Amino acid sequence: MSTGSTGSTFPKWQLAILIGAPVALGIGYLYWKKSTQPEGSDDKLKKKKLGELKDKTISLDEDERSRSQDVPAKKKTPTPLEEAQKFKNNGNAYFRDGKYEQAIEEYNRAIEKCPDANATDLSTFYQNRAAAFEHLQKWSEVIQDCSKALACNPKYLKALKRRAKAYEHQQDLAKSFEDTTAACILEGFQNNSTLMMADRVLKELGLQHAKEALKQQRPDIRPSKFFMKTFFASFMEDPIKKMVVASTDPKGFVKAKLLLDQGECDEIVAACTDEIESSEAEAEYKVEAMLLRATMYLLTAHFDEATADLDTIISMELADKKLRANALIKRASLAMQVQPNTPEVCFVYFTQAEEVDPHNSDIYHHRGQVYILAERFEEAIKDFQKASSLYPNSGIIEIHKCYAIYRQAMQNKDEYALREVIEGFRNAIERFPDCVECYSLMAQVLSDQQEFQEADNFFDKASKIEPENAQILVHKALLQLQWTAEVNPAMRLIEKAIQIDDKCGYAYETLGAIQVQRGELQDAIRLFDSAIKLAKTEMELVHLFSLKDAAIAQMNVTQNMGLDIRTIAEQQSKAIW
Ligand SMILES: *[C@@H]1O[C@H](CO)[C@@H](O)[C@H](O)[C@H]1NC(C)=O
Ligand SMILES: *[C@@H]1O[C@H](CO)[C@@H](O)[C@H](O)[C@H]1NC(C)=O
Ligand SMILES: *[C@@H]1O[C@H](CO)[C@@H](O)[C@H](O)[C@H]1NC(C)=O
Ligand SMILES: *[C@@H]1O[C@H](CO)[C@@H](O)[C@H](O)[C@H]1NC(C)=O
Repeated sequence: MSTGSTGSTFPKWQLAILIGAPVALGIGYLYWKKSTQPEGSDDKLKKKKLGELKDKTISLDEDERSRSQDVPAKKKTPTPLEEAQKFKNNGNAYFRDGKYEQAIEEYNRAIEKCPDANATDLSTFYQNRAAAFEHLQKWSEVIQDCSKALACNPKYLKALKRRAKAYEHQQDLAKSFEDTTAACILEGFQNNSTLMMADRVLKELGLQHAKEALKQQRPDIRPSKFFMKTFFASFMEDPIKKMVVASTDPKGFVKAKLLLDQGECDEIVAACTDEIESSEAEAEYKVEAMLLRATMYLLTAHFDEATADLDTIISMELADKKLRANALIKRASLAMQVQPNTPEVCFVYFTQAEEVDPHNSDIYHHRGQVYILAERFEEAIKDFQKASSLYPNSGIIEIHKCYAIYRQAMQNKDEYALREVIEGFRNAIERFPDCVECYSLMAQVLSDQQEFQEADNFFDKASKIEPENAQILVHKALLQLQWTAEVNPAMRLIEKAIQIDDKCGYAYETLGAIQVQRGELQDAIRLFDSAIKLAKTEMELVHLFSLKDAAIAQMNVTQNMGLDIRTIAEQQSKAIW
């Protein structure tokens, strides 16, 4: 496998990480799956980890060489090294009996006796003393001794892993992850338990960085016109979108609505606030203003403000039911973005919306998407069927229904249903030839089925209808990688995506992931930083910081150990990471 800077190849498994979210599901729902999936496996890891701890494996180093030297036939004065080894053996005996303090005493003597020239032995003595300190939970001492062991023997796996654990106990996660990464590299990414430790520490580290980032002032996120358009397009029954207003001297909500229609989002919130705060008599559209303001807050990641406005509308029992149902759907979406680990909360809002306005197709359409992400396909299909019966002329609803059926057929390995639903996709495209989602989801499904040429054609059709949609280009790039394994054309496509929409976080993230594989870590880190600036929720941040932290650790480790990053990228890509 060649991994030069031109024409590197990509093993298939790596793409699995990249191809996370379906291309045409609601933008707000994109990250949910990515972060809930690892969450589940995380639990499994934790259980495993506990199991590991129970059968405390003693890992003392006791090389055969030194033991055979212990029984020399001839009596002669022992060399300093031999004396040191004797102390070490005494220490090991104490260690096995659980007498760690005494063991440490013996290791102290061993270290004192050992000539500096016998570096390997010396590193063993330090490592063993670190193991004894570990049992006494003296983490600083563990770190100190492991560092000394590593100074004598930089590729000492046990010392690296032990120090990683101690750093983790001290909550110095960056250093813990760096040591774990070094261990993974030395083991050629072949040891499951080290890989799992890396995975776990990286998630903790990502979470820590995400929380720090959220405490600071986040950069102002202004949605692009395209993003706004896509978001509003996902609500067929949005009462505000349907309104027609006109005025020669627009103020308050009317002004906000006109700005919205022009795709100018900067002053919408201020205009809505004018409406909301004006005296009763002249304010005609207070609830509408509040809903629009909440929507803008939602789109700009001002989640607390959005929650407050939406909850106010939800509590207004006499307000228009379309407005309240719309507020409830948005509240559900907000709940899922902010509390992704408790999807029940989100479903409670959907149920409430159903009670308020049972014939509103948006409720079922949006809930169906959540069900897809939760892999509850039966319920998803039911919801899309209902949405479709209430609002029969939507390509988006129709194609999402097909997609849910497709996912269910795949889950059940039902060949017949699979062929049926591919037909369903083709019919939907015929019925709704201008619907971008129809083409892009069809492309996604075909790409899934390894029908690369046809998938590529459908991505092109989608791009033709919606040239400002950068995500389609990123998906096309991923398809190209999977299909031809050629990196350069894929990178050019993603760069084009960024030119089209420089706020497409997915493009930066994907390009960064490719750069990691190519060993271009510096550039990868820069790209992840760009994506981090655009991230809205904690889980997006956790995911992106994990990617960035992994790249940083690889860079530090390869520099410290004088390794070639390309060899490592290659090694890593062969292992199941
Ligand atoms: C220990 O170091 C001494 C002095 O350099 C050397 O002669 C000896 O071979 C070393 N012993 C071992 C076991 O490495
Ligand atoms: C990795 O390297 C960066 C930059 O050289 C440095 O700031 C950081 O502290 C290093 N990380 C660790 C865990 O040492
Ligand atoms: C994998 O790592 C664990 C934990 O460090 C270690 O106990 C085990 O011996 C390693 N397995 C192999 C095959 O190296
Ligand atoms: C690592 O884990 C995977 C999946 O859990 C398993 O299939 C594989 O055999 C394991 N490899 C080793 C070396 O234990």
